[in-house]
Amino acid sequence: MAYKLGVIAGDGIGPEVVGEALKVLDATGVATERTPFNLGAERYLETGEVLPEGDLDDLRRLDAVLLGAVGDPRVPPGVLERGLLLKLRFELDLYVNLRPVKLHPGVPTPLAGKDADDIDMIVVRENTEGLYSGAGGVQARGTLGEVALQESINTRHGVERVLRYAFERANARPRKKLTMVHKTNVLTHAGDLWMRTFDELGAMQYPNVGRDYSHVDAACLYFVTQPERFDVVVTDNLFGDILTDLGAAIAGGMGLAASGNLNPSRTGPSIFEPVHGSAPDIAGKGWANPIACILSVALMLEHLGETEAAQRVEQAAVATLGKLGGTAGEAMGYTTQQVGDLVVEAL
Ligand code: NAD
Ligand code: IPM
Ligand code: MN
Repeated sequence: MAYKLGVIAGDGIGPEVVGEALKVLDATGVATERTPFNLGAERYLETGEVLPEGDLDDLRRLDAVLLGAVGDPRVPPGVLERGLLLKLRFELDLYVNLRPVKLHPGVPTPLAGKDADDIDMIVVRENTEGLYSGAGGVQARGTLGEVALQESINTRHGVERVLRYAFERANARPRKKLTMVHKTNVLTHAGDLWMRTFDELGAMQYPNVGRDYSHVDAACLYFVTQPERFDVVVTDNLFGDILTDLGAAIAGGMGLAASGNLNPSRTGPSIFEPVHGSAPDIAGKGWANPIACILSVALMLEHLGETEAAQRVEQAAVATLGKLGGTAGEAMGYTTQQVGDLVVEAL
């Protein structure tokens, strides 16, 4: 039976990389019945609509969704990012943002003296709470007395479920090490909830998993100086957003970083998308590296239980990386479409 797959190509380089990812997906032989969704800047600019209820209802009925990127310089910041991308994550309750940070053999890292053995971690980012909740408000906008509040929401339920997922992932890996990243020395209310829940869950239910903690500032240092410290990392929404761009940088760049927005209970679809955005600076040039989107398809296949196809896609993507002159832009030596073709050939 064909999987029901929603496709939100989105803005900028989104459609360019999604086209290649679907080409690779088809070449695996895994059958999908696809529904394209016209969501993003063009729809908004034409109709004023960002994510109508009808589209959301249609999305809820799917097995999975592949998303390219959203965001456009013609649209004010936040309209699409909050109104489309974050709304999808929240409404579908995709509370895990899974972002592997893995340096593949042969891919250059900017870190001197580090290689593929040193950079192999999974970042589990909380994806429905924290500073992303949208709580807060503005008073006296535009006056000297203006006040802007942006509040971080942390619930026991929300924190516990993402920590549990991270413990499960760590428990399934050989090193069995889980590092929580936060800022408990300053964010004492949220930090205390995160730390107590981490320790309680770990001690009572995951005694085999080694627990480690880093403040987020030190974690940034260690990502660069000692990435081998990390096996599974769990952190809140904003810290996870920032850390995973850094993770992308040390593992070969934004053109390679894949992610899944997961509903681990599988009561609805999960959304798979590259970590990168719409990259307006290179859109339309054929310079986008589609590997991040192709590796997101591998994460999707894994999630759907198509383990063998997932491994084939990952291996073909990694083999292709070895043929590129660079990991992004003109330096790749191939266009976006040619990189897609190379992956299909390598399958
Ligand atoms: P970005 O990730 O789009 O780009 C950052 C840099 O990485 C740019 O120099 C870009 O050229 C490069 N880059 C990104 N993806 C690449 C690829 N596949 N191949 C080669 N180079 C690549 O981040 P930004 O410039 O801060 O944001 C642009 C827009 O995208 C904004 O509107 C932002 O809100 C949005 N955004 C969306 C998502 C998403 O849809 N998940 C993620 C991040 C940013
Ligand atoms: C990401 C992006 C999004 C985020 C934005 C576009 C809302 O940066 O997926 O990393 O901050 O989560
Ligand atoms: Mn981001």
